[in-house]
Amino acid sequence: MHTSQELRAAVEAAIWAPSVHNTQPWTFAVTDGELSVRADTDRLLRVSDAEGREMLVSCGAALFNIRLAVWATGHRPVVRVLPDPDRPGLLATVRLGDRQDADEQTLAMNAQIRHRRTHRAGFTRKQVPDALLEALVAQARTEGARLTPAVSEAVVRVLASVTAAAQDVQAGDRAFALEMLRWGRPPGSRYRDGVPAGAYPSEPRRTRPHFPQRDYAGGRASWGSEEDQRTATAPGVVAVLTTPGDTPPDWMAAGQALQRVLLHASAHGVSAAFHTQALELYHLREFVRQELCSGEYPQMIMRLGYPAGETRAVRRPVSDVLEEFDRPGAEGACA
Ligand SMILES: Cc1cc2nc3c(=O)[nH]c(=O)nc-3n(C[C@H](O)[C@H](O)[C@H](O)COP(=O)(O)O)c2cc1C
Repeated sequence: MHTSQELRAAVEAAIWAPSVHNTQPWTFAVTDGELSVRADTDRLLRVSDAEGREMLVSCGAALFNIRLAVWATGHRPVVRVLPDPDRPGLLATVRLGDRQDADEQTLAMNAQIRHRRTHRAGFTRKQVPDALLEALVAQARTEGARLTPAVSEAVVRVLASVTAAAQDVQAGDRAFALEMLRWGRPPGSRYRDGVPAGAYPSEPRRTRPHFPQRDYAGGRASWGSEEDQRTATAPGVVAVLTTPGDTPPDWMAAGQALQRVLLHASAHGVSAAFHTQALELYHLREFVRQELCSGEYPQMIMRLGYPAGETRAVRRPVSDVLEEFDRPGAEGACA
């Protein structure tokens, strides 16, 4: 396989990363044996993510998929994050390094890239084993982030309360509500971005304590998974992903850590539900940082558990996001 084909395959993996509201805020280019990852600022959530933090967490997750896909070709990925201070939109470059076989764990995560899905309901009562939680904490640490499962019921209740407060504030704010409505898709939508109706229940059953979902339905009908609606009411394990700093490199690290955690969890049948509303409101995020995260910056709030049903996901085709592409023929002709 030519280098450019291998890098194109890496882009095919990248697009399956999670992204805030499924905005898929990225573009890619393959030139001279190098894959560049850029932020697509037209897809920035200008109301809820003005700084671009969640956009870069999303792009960091896409970069992690690229790293895995390169490993799967039998090469060590050579990655530079934010390589050029004069080009802030250029988030990373990736080249194929020396030949090296990937270990089993890397291949197992790579195999989950297309299967992992965001969950938007309660979980079944099956407990996530402590050993798996410890492994997820270690996975996050490898990427320079910290995953802290909430062990105290009081902390879980506080996180549920700040989520509810943020959800209410955002629902009552016209600019926030309109931005949400723009990315929640009605049944039958042909869009290949945004959150499709098959991925969110319009009236999810309450977990105890209750972690409100984002209102992607905006009053419209949607279905989500019937199994989840019938049987799954446990909140699962609530966890917060944090970083020591809060700069673009920290956000890229958080995204890579997030995806590493999610794919490792997915390989063990565990899914994540996200509740990041409170992290989009300055004072609530500061509260979570100071009171619950020992001063580290919260990047994601999530619940982890075993889902009862399946969730749909959509993506734009690679041709929409890959801007340039060295044709293998052209590369061969010059070799
Ligand atoms: C930074 C970030 C924040 C997110 N916040 C939420 C959230 O608050 N609620 C939610 O339901 N999903 C959230 N998501 C999940 C996305 O909606 C999801 O990744 C996207 O719709 C694609 O679906 P998939 O993950 O099933 O492939 C978030 C994802 C990222 C990367």
